Amino acid sequence: MPKDERINFLLSPIPNSQSPIPNISMTEKQTWSQRFESALHPAIASFNASISFDIELIEYDLTGSQAHAQMLAQTGIISPAEGEELVAGLEQIRQEYRQGQFQPGIDAEDVHFAVERRLTEIVGDVGKKLHTARSRNDQVGTDTRLYLREQIQQIKQLLREFQGVLLDIAQQNVETLIPGYTHLQRAQPLSLAHHLLAYFQMAQRDWERLGDVARRVNISPLGCGALAGTTFPIDRHYTAKLLHFDDIYANSLDGVSDRDFAVEFLCAASLIMVHLSRLSEEIILWSSEEFRFVTLKDSCATGSSIMPQKKNPDVPELVRGKTGRVFGHLQAMLVIMKGLPLAYNKDLQEDKEGLFDSVKTVQACLEAMTILLREGLEFRTHRLNEAVTEDFSNATDVADYLAARGVPFREAYNLVGKVVKTSIAAGKLLKDLTLEEWQQLHPAFQEDIYTAISPKTVVAARNSYGGTGFEQVNKAILAARIQISE
Ligand code: ARG
Repeated sequence: MPKDERINFLLSPIPNSQSPIPNISMTEKQTWSQRFESALHPAIASFNASISFDIELIEYDLTGSQAHAQMLAQTGIISPAEGEELVAGLEQIRQEYRQGQFQPGIDAEDVHFAVERRLTEIVGDVGKKLHTARSRNDQVGTDTRLYLREQIQQIKQLLREFQGVLLDIAQQNVETLIPGYTHLQRAQPLSLAHHLLAYFQMAQRDWERLGDVARRVNISPLGCGALAGTTFPIDRHYTAKLLHFDDIYANSLDGVSDRDFAVEFLCAASLIMVHLSRLSEEIILWSSEEFRFVTLKDSCATGSSIMPQKKNPDVPELVRGKTGRVFGHLQAMLVIMKGLPLAYNKDLQEDKEGLFDSVKTVQACLEAMTILLREGLEFRTHRLNEAVTEDFSNATDVADYLAARGVPFREAYNLVGKVVKTSIAAGKLLKDLTLEEWQQLHPAFQEDIYTAISPKTVVAARNSYGGTGFEQVNKAILAARIQISE
């Protein structure tokens, strides 16, 4: 492409920009600076640009820039009047953006340039002073942290709502029984509440983990400059305070190149997805004809385009499926970081899309799962109670019955193994054996064996701390209520 065509590209209006605000003359942008002789190749300009996705940061960029301008005035680097003009101009951009009037195109390269350019249009030459004692490197780091800090609060709130609905269902189902599994083989019956409270606990750890991550997100890199600090007498504590950061980075190189906080967030997000995905998998199994433990309500299920009888669990399937992209973003972030020499490298521009997508994915999945649990799912309690009577999941309790009456547990275990085998051959369940049959097996068996092995007794009896016994479950529900109200 001939040189002047390239310049024309940069001069021409942005193809897909709807902005009613006219673009300023691009003559300043023909070349990067006086150091350059020709403009960027248009394809490279678009390859280089991040505006299509970092526009997501605009409100944080404006807030960060307002704090920076206030600090410049406070420290006498610019005059108080200039500081006020900058702050007001930035506020005007915020309003324009919110009203859909400010939609910068790729000629702006990134959100930081877009804002500075528009600011200069609004306030004139003083706009060119905003970037004093600052680099886009500490600026973008500040924006990303402000963004993530807010998103983490929203995710924590969504986790609380998810926990709340788990708790409501648990409370209504303390005495609803459900088969418990190990190796996906019937193991011991459980209180349905106990089963759901396991997910409550996972969400509790997720909530706490996000709080931990938030502490390291909330440290200000602003004032680290490009990499080495600045020659101006800035006050980093002042901007940190205005932006409600808890602390500031101690080392300027680390400040501009650290993305540990993003990796940590992606780890926490991945674990949330692991938990949601496991619950999804169970709901998918439970809603199958093979289990029939839950019915999906029409508001949260979909049909098939060809098989009229189908009702599909699309919501939990999508949550399970979306888990993969969050894991992928974590992996990508780790790989982006591993070979980077200090300090800022353009590779770091690649931190954003995966981060934004993970935030949105986790938020959407938490919302969808909360709705599904609250109004899209009906536990078939009759069928569940029936399910726990049709298997040998009370076999441990027969062994425990003998062990409590002095028979060594291993001996009792072997004895019950034998009964299970003969019962299966005879097409019977343990509850179908006559007292004589029990006593032939061992004289310690009495009439009370029948209540001892009824599913309700079996569940109630597991009253050890943290177990499925109803007393334990009721206590766990109380403790959980307190936990989420704090
Ligand atoms: N758009 C860039 C990013 O997201 C902003 C920082 C650019 N810094 C630089 N030295 N080129 O990382």
